[in-house]
Amino acid sequence: MPRIENDLDKSTDTMDFNLSEEHLMIREAARDFANNELLPGVIERDTNQTFPTEQVKKMGELGFLGMMVDPKYGGGGMDTLSYVIAMEELSKIDASASVIVSVNNSLVCWGLETYGSEEQKQKYLTKLATGESIGAFCLSEPEAGSDATSQRTTAVDKGDHYLLNGTKNWITNGGSADYYLVIAQTDRDKGHRGINAFIVEKSWDGFEVGPKEDKLGIRGSDTHTLNFNDVKVPKENRIGEDGFGFKFAMKTLSGGRIGIAAQALGIAAGAYDLAREYSKIRKAFGTEICNHQAIAFKLADMHVNIEAARHLVMKAAWDKDQGANYDMSGAMAKLQASKVAMETTVEAVQIHGGNGYVKEYHVERLMRDAKITQIYEGTSEIQKIVISRGLLRD
Ligand code: CAA
Repeated sequence: MPRIENDLDKSTDTMDFNLSEEHLMIREAARDFANNELLPGVIERDTNQTFPTEQVKKMGELGFLGMMVDPKYGGGGMDTLSYVIAMEELSKIDASASVIVSVNNSLVCWGLETYGSEEQKQKYLTKLATGESIGAFCLSEPEAGSDATSQRTTAVDKGDHYLLNGTKNWITNGGSADYYLVIAQTDRDKGHRGINAFIVEKSWDGFEVGPKEDKLGIRGSDTHTLNFNDVKVPKENRIGEDGFGFKFAMKTLSGGRIGIAAQALGIAAGAYDLAREYSKIRKAFGTEICNHQAIAFKLADMHVNIEAARHLVMKAAWDKDQGANYDMSGAMAKLQASKVAMETTVEAVQIHGGNGYVKEYHVERLMRDAKITQIYEGTSEIQKIVISRGLLRD
């Protein structure tokens, strides 16, 4: 029988999740913020699709918008574990607010800090990391969602600038952002090697924020179509070497998926907490419903699933912090945590019975919010592509 090497994803094979004093303080700060600042008004913002402008400003002041960015650019200089801990806490209460945090941290600040030029970092990252400005990541298009190499948006090289034309869809922070990282095709003949990433400012001529989507969940976050009509993008706003844009997007999304996994975990944990507490006060057949095994077993399953998802999320964060590969562990965390978010929120509604179906008990919102975690930043099917390719790689 041949010896089979178990070196599947080049991730770490040890873990130390001992949370430091700093991690515990971040958890406390995020929990306090979520309960004191996000919870009031969360139902109204969801109902009216209101962007949490004031709350985002405060999150910037508290350092939640550039958590992992080097302090020399205005960030918190924290590790990924701190980030997922904060994401979980914020998402327990308000997943609309937490996706704004996730996109700004993972998809915008991280990409700029890792691959941007010093000038780009000074000009843009310093504002994004402090929350003075908000960022958006623009990859998806009407005809290129999961199939991200099929970009139709074009950026034609005109010497000292590129001329950007096209449409981007489902862009988180689409209406509220100041700066946009836009992925576009510069040379169709080169396929994914002819794709570049650019920093685009909202105020530039030819840039238009299109209609806002009326969504099932995360209704407080603003998701828009964006149109680019002959937008002049200076050459110095291209990120990285010519042709690096697709890999830039893929590498950035690998980290983004850890943030969304933490968001899904928080949604699940928030729904579980509500269901557990409700089951201890709601009575049926002469006793609190938690005393019925039908409910107690649901709680046990929810708890085990959440703990397992939490370990995957922390493992992915750990891999990133150790400088190991996290493509697979991030994809596994997102795949599993988003599944657990969906299953747990459905059960939380069930435990609440009729009350679960009305807004004031919060679980119906969490159930609607959970669904997107199986779709954005790579659907569950895309995560399976990433995982299976990783498993079968030589
Ligand atoms: N890191 C570095 N390079 C990577 C990479 C990674 N994680 N993944 C792929 N690449 C490289 C490959 O090595 C390859 O380069 P070479 O040819 O030089 O070897 C190149 O990229 C193309 O890769 P593939 O051949 O694997 O490309 P593919 O067409 O088969 O697609 C995919 C791969 C994983 C399916 C990718 O298209 C994908 O991730 N799709 C999903 C896109 C997505 O997540 N969209 C979400 C939108 S963003 C969003 O939701 C934001 C929001 O607002 C919340």
